Amino acid sequence: MSKLNGKTAIITGGTSGIGKATALLFAAEGASVVFSGRRAELGAALQAHIRAQGGQALFVQTDQTDPEQCAHLVECAAREFGHIDILFNNAGIVTHGTAESTSEETWAQTLAVNVTAVWRMCKLALPELRKAGGGVIVNNASDWAVVGGKGALPYAVSKGAVAQMTRSMALDHAAEHIRVNAVCPGDTFVERWLEKGYYEHSDPVSLEAAKAAAAAYLPMGRFGQPEEIARAVLFLASDDSSFMTGHLLLVDGGNTAQ
Ligand SMILES: NC(=O)c1ccc[n+]([C@@H]2O[C@H](COP(=O)([O-])OP(=O)(O)OC[C@H]3O[C@@H](n4cnc5c(N)ncnc54)[C@H](OP(=O)(O)O)[C@@H]3O)[C@@H](O)[C@H]2O)c1
Repeated sequence: MSKLNGKTAIITGGTSGIGKATALLFAAEGASVVFSGRRAELGAALQAHIRAQGGQALFVQTDQTDPEQCAHLVECAAREFGHIDILFNNAGIVTHGTAESTSEETWAQTLAVNVTAVWRMCKLALPELRKAGGGVIVNNASDWAVVGGKGALPYAVSKGAVAQMTRSMALDHAAEHIRVNAVCPGDTFVERWLEKGYYEHSDPVSLEAAKAAAAAYLPMGRFGQPEEIARAVLFLASDDSSFMTGHLLLVDGGNTAQ
């Protein structure tokens, strides 16, 4: 049995990384997937791929920091599929800095994408979830939502806020059958890391060696894969977690157990 048959899921930031892996998994599990992102080419390619596999997908180019574009995303999902059952607030940016080195611009941008846009999407989607008789919100936080992030102050603060949004909203909406949980990934290797030039490598073999060296601090000695996070999101989005709300699910290879 597919776990999300008949459900419509909005995934913010589905053009790459964890959001893309989740869009693929949700579609394979029978959901109609509506996903956002700013990179239209990547969005169109993923939409075409899911449809070619026989799944239902709709890409809506969206900058999550723009309230009107967020409203448009939710409207498109409701119009296309008639109801919205799941919201995965995944879009996010990683920023670095200490209290002193973080600029006003970085601070504002981090909170705009990682916190304000998450609240906004919840606010927009709640009436639709209620109309559907209940639903599920999954927020993508981070292991840095539960422990401090050295040299990543704005990011860690933003993910700590997502954790509190998750718990507080869980209390506000439990009685109306809307569950709110968060997945807290540890370091998970995504293509964006290569684009940012995190690892020097000349070929796949040297890349694997660089990754293994960088992941040595983790108990499992490797980074997570987006698909491993997607499976945890599926658990939280499906009835498999029907008695869970306000929970932060760490998927971090043991990092925060240290
Ligand atoms: N990878 C990790 O180690 C890790 C660990 C803990 C938590 N996380 C969280 O996982 C989530 C996904 O990140 P990722 O690691 O998968 O990296 P990623 O590949 O960079 O994915 C980020 C996604 O967010 C979207 N996005 C960013 N800003 C946006 C905006 N203003 N409007 C719309 N979409 C926006 C991006 O789409 P466009 O660029 O097309 O707009 C992209 O689809 C983030 O919330 C991140 O904090 C990741």
